[in-house]
Amino acid sequence: MAETKSDENVRFSGKTINACMDTEIFGRTLVFRDETESTNNDARAFAENGCKPGLLVVADMQTAGRGRRGREWLAPSGQNIYMTLVLKPECVPDNAAAVTLVMAISVLEAVREIIPDIEGGIKWPNDIVVNNKKICGILTEMCAESGKIRYVLAGVGVNVNQKEFPNEIKETATSLFLESGMETERSRLVSRVMYFFEQNYRLFEKTWDLKLMLDKYNSMLINRGKRVRVLDPKGEYEGIAHGINENGGLIVERQDNGELVYVYAGEVSVRGVYGYAI
Ligand code: BTN
Repeated sequence: MAETKSDENVRFSGKTINACMDTEIFGRTLVFRDETESTNNDARAFAENGCKPGLLVVADMQTAGRGRRGREWLAPSGQNIYMTLVLKPECVPDNAAAVTLVMAISVLEAVREIIPDIEGGIKWPNDIVVNNKKICGILTEMCAESGKIRYVLAGVGVNVNQKEFPNEIKETATSLFLESGMETERSRLVSRVMYFFEQNYRLFEKTWDLKLMLDKYNSMLINRGKRVRVLDPKGEYEGIAHGINENGGLIVERQDNGELVYVYAGEVSVRGVYGYAI
C-alpha cells in the first residue's frame, strides 16, 4: 500500500503555522521548507542578506541537521520540528549565550501548555528532558564583528511525533508522542514557542541577562538540588547543583571541597549521577 501522510503531516506547512501565529514580531516572517540541509544554514543566509530580526525558518526535514559540539542532529520528515529564529540583540556578544536558556524556558512553557500532564524539565543549560531523556535541543550560533553582534541564530529541534529512535540514541532521546501517548500538532507548538519566546525575550531585553527569569528557569531546572557530574576537560568532579546565576552559569557546590563554583557551558557539560539528566 502506498504510504499516506497523516493528517497532522499534511497540515504542517507555512500556511498552517501562519494561521496560529499570534506574536507581534517573532515568526511573523516565516519561511517553510519541506526539506533543507539545516534551518540554521538557511537562517544564516537570510541574516547575511540583511533580513529583519524575527524571521523564522521552519523545516519538515533536514538532511544535515547540526547539534552542539559538532554532533549530528537526526531530522526525519513528517514527525518533528526543526526551526531557527534570527535575532539581532543589542547587547555585547558575551550576553548572547543566554538566548539559548531563554529559548529553553519558552519551549518548555509551550510544551506544558499543550500537554499539561507532561513531567518535563530543563537539563542545564538548555536541553528539555522528560523522564531523563531529551525531547529538545537548542543550537545557538552568533556572528559578531569588532565586538558587536551582527546576528544570533536560535535553532530548535523538538522531537514531537517520532515513534522510534535509532539504537545509538534511544537511551537518551524521546519524543512528546512517546511520553504522552498522543500526537501533537506541530504548527500549534511552533506558534506557542514563538509566543512564549517573544514574552521572555522582552524581559531579557530589559537587562540583557536572565535576572528577570531566574526564578522561572530555576523552577524548571531538573538538576536543582541534585547531584551532578561536571565534565570539565581540566578534571571531572561531582557536586550539588543549586540553580543558575543571572548569566546562565550553573552554581555547583563541589563535593570534594565544599566550594561554590560557577560552571559555564561551552567546554564543560553536566550529567546526572544516575542517568543522562538526573
Ligand atoms: C543539541 O545538540 O542539543 C542541539 C540540537 C539543535 C538542532 C536544531 S534542529 C533546527 C536547527 N538546525 C540545525 O541544524 N540544528 C538546529
